[in-house]
Amino acid sequence: MRAIVQDEYGEAQDVLRLEQVARPQIADDEVLVRVHAAGVDRGVWHIMTGLPYPIRVMGYGFRVPKDRARGREVAGVVEAVGKDVTTPAPGEEVYGIGEGGFAEFCRARADKLAPKPTNLTFEQAAAAPVSALTALQAVRDGGRVRSRQSVLIIGASGGVGTFAVQIAKAFGAEVTGVCSTAKVDLVRSLGADHVIDYTRDDITSGGRYDVILDIGGHRSLTHLRRALAPAGTLVIVGSETGGRWLGGFDRSLRAPLLSLFVGQKLTALTNSENAKDLVALTELIESGKVTPAIERTYPLAETPTAIQHMVEGNARGKLVITI
Ligand SMILES: NC(=O)c1ccc[n+]([C@@H]2O[C@H](COP(=O)([O-])OP(=O)(O)OC[C@H]3O[C@@H](n4cnc5c(N)ncnc54)[C@H](OP(=O)(O)O)[C@@H]3O)[C@@H](O)[C@H]2O)c1
Repeated sequence: MRAIVQDEYGEAQDVLRLEQVARPQIADDEVLVRVHAAGVDRGVWHIMTGLPYPIRVMGYGFRVPKDRARGREVAGVVEAVGKDVTTPAPGEEVYGIGEGGFAEFCRARADKLAPKPTNLTFEQAAAAPVSALTALQAVRDGGRVRSRQSVLIIGASGGVGTFAVQIAKAFGAEVTGVCSTAKVDLVRSLGADHVIDYTRDDITSGGRYDVILDIGGHRSLTHLRRALAPAGTLVIVGSETGGRWLGGFDRSLRAPLLSLFVGQKLTALTNSENAKDLVALTELIESGKVTPAIERTYPLAETPTAIQHMVEGNARGKLVITI
């Protein structure tokens, strides 16, 4: 089969190659998926570069990547299942989180897949798994967003943020999205009630919010707290600093500690990849409340170009690879 692979850590154009490789072998609890489309998300960049360094000791390979294949968000059709798998069944259309999705076939744990939303194409479905699950968990579990609450979403134009805006609206919140000038129209089109262009105005310019989801920009906790209501909740999802040791992770370590001493709740999110939340997401998608915002699709051979486009901060919402 054709697959995008790498043998050393580095940037997309330097290390990714399209090769003919053997189909992946599946374990007893795994599924072989014939991939139709695969989403590009920030996690791909982290695993591809081995940065920040702590991820190398988390099982991805110390000096070189342990697994040659990249791509985790997938949509496709089940080709075969391991002997312990009762669902999904061969022939079923699925979406979810796999290993090595930038390929004609990938393997996935059965408990990280769900039936593909019936109203989405494979390309649209592939945009959702990691980004939309993260957004759902940030809104529902981290922020515990309720109807009529005011919610500030920093990074509203990105992969996670474009879903978070729509999900917070679906939960009945009044949503303010923060993004750069060129993406104001995108964030407004997602249903945000207000948009702050961070190149012109500060995040505090709209008052104080019940919930802040911080998905980009790496503002200090002090800065973020100034935009948060006295009993408000901050959820740090992530940000990119380029730092080789902590990346944007330093605030995620400090926020819960500071939270012990202040009236505001300061939290950091670690997403959970599970089929139950994919099904919850499907309900939001099939009811028409959430639709993936995809800038464009790329053929498999152009995967490095797609990743570079995201890394340079130019993507509007999600990018998808078609196979
Ligand atoms: N905690 C978790 O479990 C988890 C899960 C998934 C992702 N993440 C992390 O979440 C972060 C976002 O992921 P993503 O896939 O959404 O990335 P993305 O698609 O690249 O989006 C990045 C977002 O950050 C915004 N941004 C950049 N600089 C900014 C600034 N100075 N002020 C405000 N916003 C700024 C961008 O807005 P403009 O393009 O308009 O500038 C864009 O909306 C990444 O760090 C990722 O690693 C964490």
